[in-house]
Amino acid sequence: MQDILRVEGLSLSFTQYTTGLHQRELTVLHDLSLTVSSGQVVAVVGASGSGKSLLAHAILGLLPYNSHMSGRILYAGQPLTPKRAQALRGQEIVLVPQGTTCLDPLMQVGAQIRRGSRTAEAVQKCREALKRYGLGQETEQMYPFELSGGMARRVLIATAAMERPRLVVADEPTPGLDARSAKRMLGHFRELAEAGAAVLFITHDLELALTVADQIVVLYAGETIEQTTPDRLRHPYTRALWQALPQNGFHTLPGTQPYPGEITQGCQFAPRCPICRADCRKRAHIPYRQTDTGHIRCLYDGEDET
Ligand SMILES: Nc1ncnc2c1ncn2[C@@H]1O[C@H](COP(=O)(O)OP(=O)(O)O)[C@@H](O)[C@H]1O
Ligand SMILES: [Mg+2]
Repeated sequence: MQDILRVEGLSLSFTQYTTGLHQRELTVLHDLSLTVSSGQVVAVVGASGSGKSLLAHAILGLLPYNSHMSGRILYAGQPLTPKRAQALRGQEIVLVPQGTTCLDPLMQVGAQIRRGSRTAEAVQKCREALKRYGLGQETEQMYPFELSGGMARRVLIATAAMERPRLVVADEPTPGLDARSAKRMLGHFRELAEAGAAVLFITHDLELALTVADQIVVLYAGETIEQTTPDRLRHPYTRALWQALPQNGFHTLPGTQPYPGEITQGCQFAPRCPICRADCRKRAHIPYRQTDTGHIRCLYDGEDET
C-alpha cells in the first residue's frame, strides 16, 4: 500500500494582535503526524476545538493568511505546497466540508456538481454520481434551499466523487444525520476507498470512527496522541473516550482539554490522566513513539497500565 498522505510534525500558529500594536503567536496545532494509504479509511477523532478542521484546511492549502505552518505535508511522496494543493483541489484531492453552506444558494445542484461544465460527458457523470448517492435526476434542477440536510450532504459527496479522487478529506460529514443515514454515509466513504482513494474521515464521534475506519488518529489539544487500529486503543485519553460511550458504562472524565494558549510542557493530558506519573509533566516534550499498531504519545503504554 502506498502512503498517499503523510503529515509530519505539523505545527500551526496564528499571529494575533492584542491591545495596541502588540502581537502574539497562538499555537493551535503542534507536532501533528499521521499517514493515510490508498484504499484506507483513517478516522481523525477529537473533541471540538482539538484542531480537526485546521488540519483539513492545512492539507487542502486553505489556511488563513495570518497563519504560520511548520512541518511537512507529503502527497504521493512529494511536498504538498499550498500551490500544489490548489492545483489538485477538486480533482485528485477533494474536501467534503463541515458545513453545507459552501453550496452556492443561487446555482442549481446539477451545475454545481458539474462545476459549470455542460459537456455530454459531464452531464452523464453528474447523473451517475447523483444516482450512486440515492438522489433522483430531478435533484439536478433543484436549488440548495430545496434540499433536506441529508440530501445536501449527499450532494457534497457526489461533488467530491465526480473526478475519482485519490485523497478525500471529509470534515465531520455526519452531524445531524440519524444513525442509519450516518452509517450509509460511511459506506460511501468505504466505497471511495475501495476504488483506491485514501480517505481521511474527520469526526468527534469515536464510536462511528471505530465502526468504519482501518486506523484511527486521535487529536488532543492540537496534538496527535495516537494512531492505531480500532481494536487496540492504548492511549489513556482514547481509552477514556471509549469508556464514556453509553454501551461501555458512560464513565465520564472530569476536566477539559487545554485551549490554545494554555499549552504547558510535558503531556497535555497529564492533569486528567489516571496513569500519570511525575515525569509526564517534567519532560519538555512527550515523543510520538512507534508501536506495533502505529504511534502513541505516552511514556507508559496505556494498555499495560489500566
Ligand atoms: N483563524 C483562526 N485564528 C485563531 N484561532 C483559530 C482560527 N481558526 C481556528 N482557531 C482555533 O484553533 C483551534 C482548533 O480549531 P478547529 O480546527 O476549528 O477545531 P475542530 O475542528 O477540532 O473543532 C480552536 O481553539 C480554534 O479556536
Ligand atoms: Mg471542525
